[in-house]
Amino acid sequence: MAAFTAKDPDNRSAFMAHWGKILDDEGITVQTILFDGQIAGHIAYFQQFGKPSISYWIDRGHWGKGVATEALRQFLAQLVTRPLYARAAKDNLGSLRVLEKCGFRICGADKGFSHARGEEVEEYILELA
Ligand SMILES: CC(C)(COP(=O)(O)OP(=O)(O)OC[C@H]1O[C@@H](n2cnc3c(N)ncnc32)[C@H](O)[C@@H]1OP(=O)(O)O)[C@@H](O)C(=O)NCCC(=O)NCCS
Repeated sequence: MAAFTAKDPDNRSAFMAHWGKILDDEGITVQTILFDGQIAGHIAYFQQFGKPSISYWIDRGHWGKGVATEALRQFLAQLVTRPLYARAAKDNLGSLRVLEKCGFRICGADKGFSHARGEEVEEYILELA
């Protein structure tokens, strides 16, 4: 679903190094999403292509329960920055719906090489004004 992922998602040391950098970066806010006391995913605020942006990832076992929508609602209530931006592959209908439910609207499109899919993928850029 998510097109723009790490080059080598199965490499644990690369994963840990990547997350080490994220957690050490004071410009990034990342929070753990809990559902019934269990870790269900993460949500983050960071700069992407020079714009304040958000992103999230939910464990597959928790999909379809409204977890991403509620996590994004709670995260947005803490963030004062507007406008805010997000990107989702054009065929990532679940993520586009989550963003739409939280007030984001499509404001542009882009494309880039997807390591996850091994091909160029089109994505929407969404804005929360
Ligand atoms: C996308 C993702 C975050 C959704 O998480 P989730 O907790 O299942 O989302 P929610 O349950 O809050 O909402 C999903 C919405 O999308 C809809 N949806 C899901 N799959 C869909 C599909 N294939 N077609 C149309 N709508 C779809 C659901 O019906 C729901 O909308 P509704 O409440 O109006 O019924 C989750 O699948 C995920 O983490 N995917 C992998 C990583 C990823 O893609 N991250 C985002 C990168 S931009």
